[in-house]
Formats: sequence, structure tokens, C-alpha cells
Amino acid sequence: MIGNKTFAIIKPSAVKDNHIGEITAMIEKKGFRVNAMKLTKMSFDDASKFYNVHKDKPFYNDLCKYMSAGPIMPLILSKENAVKSFRNLIGATNPAEAQEGTIRHKFGKSIDENAIHGSDSDENAANEMDFFFTKNEIF
Ligand code: CMP
Repeated sequence: MIGNKTFAIIKPSAVKDNHIGEITAMIEKKGFRVNAMKLTKMSFDDASKFYNVHKDKPFYNDLCKYMSAGPIMPLILSKENAVKSFRNLIGATNPAEAQEGTIRHKFGKSIDENAIHGSDSDENAANEMDFFFTKNEIF
């Protein structure tokens, strides 16, 4: 079944560069509804758990360091076919390959500092939402 919710994180570099407003505006303009959002910060240990699926990748340590280096903004978003539709809006993982009009093309600086995360499946979206939000924080 195709779900209508996805999970996103505005990453530390984009928060630091003051792009929260422009990025959430692009998300809302594409027809997503914001069901939950907050400004928070992960410890290195939190990031290691969140990115456990990448634990064997060469970039795992740098990824955890970067994602715990400053405030981030996790969000829960809804729209029909949310996961796929949101992946289209954010663009390719490497901003150099992301199409014009995508969030990573506009705000991504490198493959690490690629501005935003979007879940890649309904199952991962559900797990990632649970990692950051309790039931009473979701509307
Ligand atoms: P994201 O898909 O949000 O979550 C995993 C992150 O790892 C990814 O974004 C990139 O920012 C980062 N990363 C660094 N190097 C790579 C790589 N070679 N392939 C995929 N992701 C990478």
C-alpha cells in the first residue's frame, strides 16, 4: 500500500545558513501538509542509531559527526504518495546531480551537506517518525 506520510530532516548546514523558511515554503507549495516539526539536536550517539542502516558504509562516521554538529529540523509531512513525491522534490543525493527546481539543487552544498533528508520507503518513514516524535507531537 502506498502511504500518505513521509519524514524529513532539514540538515545542520541548511539550518545554520537560515534556509528553514525557504525550504518549508517549497514543501508547502508542493502541496505537503506539515503534521509535525521541531528544532532539535542529535548527540553523536543519537545519530549513530538513526543512521544504523549505513553503519558499514565508508561515510558513516562523517555522516554521524555532521548530523550531530548543530541543530536540525525533523518534519512529518503528508500528501498522496508522500515518500515518492517528496523524493522528487528534494532531488538526487548529490546536489551536483540534482535537477533544477529541487531543494538539494537550490540549497545543497555537497553530498554531505545536501540540505535535506527524505525517507526512502514507507517502512523507514514510520521508523524515522518514531525516532523523533511522540504521538502527541503529531497533528
Ligand atoms: P541522506 O540520504 O539524507 O542520508 C544518508 C546521507 O549520507 C546522505 O543523505 C548523504 O548526505 C550522506 N552521504 C555521504 N556520502 C554518501 C555516498 N557516497 N552515498 C550516499 N550518501 C552519502
